[in-house]
Amino acid sequence: MNIKVINTTQVKKTGAIIIPLFQDIPISELPENIIDKNLKNHIASSIKEMIDCRIAGKINILHAISHKNYKTILLLGLGNSSKFSIDQFRSNIAESTRKLRDLDIKNLYLLSYKNLYNNYSIKEFGQLISESINLGLYEFNKYKTQIKDKYIESIFIIEENQNYYNEMNQGITNGQIISDSVNLCRNLVNEPSNYMTPTQLAEEATKISIDNNLSINVLDTLDMKKLGMGAILGVAQGSNQPPKFIIMDYRGDPKNKSNKIGLVGKGITFDSGGISIKPSKNMGDMKGDMAGAAAVISSIQAISKLKLKINVTSIVVATENMPGSKAQKPGDVIKTFNGKTIEIDNTDAEGRLILADAVAYANSIGIKKIIDIATLTGAIRVALGNICTGAFGNNARFTSQLINASKETGEYIWELPIYNEYKNQYKSDIADIKNTGGMYAGATTGAMIIGEFVGNSSWIHLDIAGTSTSTINNGHNVKGSTGVPVRTIIKLAQKLQNNKI
Ligand code: BES
Ligand code: ZN
Ligand code: MN
Repeated sequence: MNIKVINTTQVKKTGAIIIPLFQDIPISELPENIIDKNLKNHIASSIKEMIDCRIAGKINILHAISHKNYKTILLLGLGNSSKFSIDQFRSNIAESTRKLRDLDIKNLYLLSYKNLYNNYSIKEFGQLISESINLGLYEFNKYKTQIKDKYIESIFIIEENQNYYNEMNQGITNGQIISDSVNLCRNLVNEPSNYMTPTQLAEEATKISIDNNLSINVLDTLDMKKLGMGAILGVAQGSNQPPKFIIMDYRGDPKNKSNKIGLVGKGITFDSGGISIKPSKNMGDMKGDMAGAAAVISSIQAISKLKLKINVTSIVVATENMPGSKAQKPGDVIKTFNGKTIEIDNTDAEGRLILADAVAYANSIGIKKIIDIATLTGAIRVALGNICTGAFGNNARFTSQLINASKETGEYIWELPIYNEYKNQYKSDIADIKNTGGMYAGATTGAMIIGEFVGNSSWIHLDIAGTSTSTINNGHNVKGSTGVPVRTIIKLAQKLQNNKI
């Protein structure tokens, strides 16, 4: 969706206008040449009837206005200007836009004025607007044969001060790049598993790499055998779909090789549980067990499009987890890439297995900062629900850098502990460790099993099993994949440029 900033004289088509209103700023102070006297009076008299319409988050729609351009007015309450919340604004703009689309509005305008930039820069304002609109209007209707006819054709920010245009446009462009990448992540996750196979995921990654000048290397079963990636091959052996190990590289800071992060994504394109098969209720949701993979592919795309001064390697392990006569079985023992052995206690704890090989590989190629992203455990949903991602890390500074980045994007991330004492829970009688840690602290033991393989690297594990999908339309999220935590990873990369933090 293309968003432009224009002034009132450039408004050519009738449509709807979103008017953000603070509780403590009188209507009379809205810019005169955008909102003429008549319209102001109309709003002022409506406000008398709807006393609370300026409370933060309130959305009210007025129709049949006599104004020559704006036939529909959406009043968006922002609350008191001293308590303004960017996260709430992002969410409300998305919701407002969706509401107007559902009313079959074709041309959308948003009133911009100086008080809206008091809490941040004009550039950040532009980014926020394009991000929230592009995220809020997202739909996945590739498989609907009946085409929906409600769609917004054009979106304009109305700003009278031309001196702001340059900065605002830069923000709009950045917001566009970021939200396009989040929407790419959503598309990859929302695809059904009969389309999004490991081979298809590798093809998508290849296409993205070619388009963005990234180098890419896709390893197949034979390559993984040679490298001794027994954990990945153990999970993959139950499926007819061949596994793929995808390595994408972006060099944004070639002179500074140490300025590098490695992103490792869990890419289980379907998790049936394997021989330890899952119950059939909601099993279809397990097409989304590659959300970590989708996030690392989408993040590196955005980071390269934004030309950030940092080096990034994204690694994806893509495979299905299926039962069958060739599938691995509880009690089996496998040998991982770094030589450690794992007893398979439960074939449904497959994410930690494939990630064990992947983070060990990342460490072996010299990546000193690793972030793995995975829909790893049901236990994290019990702990944090569907609104907050769990974080685990072995380097307090690195973890806090990521969590600080998340505070700026509004994607909640909360750190949980990885105390050594938990290791007793995944001791094995026959191998170095087993792949489960019992019913208590399940998200921690899952994380710690991955952590056994990171060697001397700084490492963060993000468990997105609760946050990667949403069951409802809510703010900038719509039902289905959320694209978490792409915006936070991009923000972290922005902050790590030139090793600034
Ligand atoms: N992919 C699942 C975790 C999951 C559950 C993601 C629900 C999204 C929604 C993972 O592979 C899994 O099955 N984990 C098991 C681990 C257990 C067997 C130790 C779990 O959490 O039950
Ligand atoms: Zn899984
Ligand atoms: Mn599983």
